Amino acid sequence: MAEVQRTFVAIKPDGVERGLIGEVVNRFERRGLKIVGMKLLKVSREMAETHYGEHKGKPFYEGLVSYITSAPIVGMVLQGKDAVTLARNVIGATNPLNAAPGTIRGDLAIEIGRNLVHGSDSPESAKREIGIFFKDSELVNDWTRTVEKWIAE
Ligand code: RTP
Ligand code: MG
Repeated sequence: MAEVQRTFVAIKPDGVERGLIGEVVNRFERRGLKIVGMKLLKVSREMAETHYGEHKGKPFYEGLVSYITSAPIVGMVLQGKDAVTLARNVIGATNPLNAAPGTIRGDLAIEIGRNLVHGSDSPESAKREIGIFFKDSELVNDWTRTVEKWIAE
């Protein structure tokens, strides 16, 4: 049976600057994922380095840190069955050039360095990333949506 998971999704600075917050949030909402945390914030260099630690030393690392700290992001915690994979599928391939139409990157972005959205790549990454961006008190842990039974069995 599918596992209920949480995932960390962020609308990156290009999405915020381009006025695409509503458009992006709408896609996750319509799909059926439950938003249990959401905020606008400016990512510090320290947070960026922690979040993207796995990419340190790669040629694109400095550009990536500068990109993610350049303007506010919208961080979200989404919950649902298979939320990690589901969110990655809604987002599309890392390089928008290869992202399928119908995905966020496939519809709204054109290149890898401005790919609009982040989504955790595993439940373990999600846990780590949620911890970087949210305090537990900022998450809504005691809410059962009344529509839940119409979205998942
Ligand atoms: P994300 O973490 O942002 O959801 O993206 P991802 O899992 O699809 O891709 P990942 O390999 O984790 O890369 C993180 C972000 O780094 C930038 N990147 N640029 N220029 C490049 O070759 C390159 N490769 C990666 C992208 O912004 C990517 O989303
Ligand atoms: Mg990644």
